[in-house]
Amino acid sequence: MTSLIQSVVRLAQQTFSKQVNEESLGRLRSLFFNLTARDVDFKGDLLEDKKCGLKGPTIHVHIYEDDHQSISIFGIREGKKIPLHDHPDMYGIIKVIRGAIKIKSFTKLSVKEVSAAPKEILSKVSWRQKHLLLPTVMTGEKIVTTENEPCILYPTDNNIHEVTSIEGLSAFVDLLSPPYQEGERDCHFYSVLGSAFDPKLNLTVTWLLEVDSPASYWCDNIPYTGPPV
Ligand SMILES: [Fe+2]
Repeated sequence: MTSLIQSVVRLAQQTFSKQVNEESLGRLRSLFFNLTARDVDFKGDLLEDKKCGLKGPTIHVHIYEDDHQSISIFGIREGKKIPLHDHPDMYGIIKVIRGAIKIKSFTKLSVKEVSAAPKEILSKVSWRQKHLLLPTVMTGEKIVTTENEPCILYPTDNNIHEVTSIEGLSAFVDLLSPPYQEGERDCHFYSVLGSAFDPKLNLTVTWLLEVDSPASYWCDNIPYTGPPV
């Protein structure tokens, strides 16, 4: 019998090997909605026990990867976070399978369409860092639990996010398409410098600064023990 995670991987292959549209993405999202910790054998209680020996703020379980997609589980300890990061030209689907997470999302704006960075933002960076400034618009902050629909991020919209666990060891299944690829689709980290009203766009622009991967963020990698994919 085909397991749910196997069906998800197959449908994701069909979805992302062609032109993606809202209909195909919607079908995948519906299937993804059914995923639980049991479907991927994520043993949250064991991992939350201090005796498990893992000390990292986050836990990563690699499930599957091919040219079109990568699927993993991320566990985040209470109060810890996956810092603000992007997914260049990628789609992403997140289904919470344990606890509750807070997701803060941003959409990149084109440097050409926004007004120049205001003085209060520029005063926070050196001239060498100016090219690392990124104008964005904050698109939301929401709490997501196992009861909620999967969250989707798009190659453009909501492409940058920060994920914080707010209820014990929270975990989610994370599907990315295409996968990150060193040198081609690298993950970038950001810090928030501040927000300022942009009269040209008539909206509040949040200015981010690209930073190195924060030292507080690291993962314990553990093997996947769920059904074969
Ligand atoms: Fe992410």
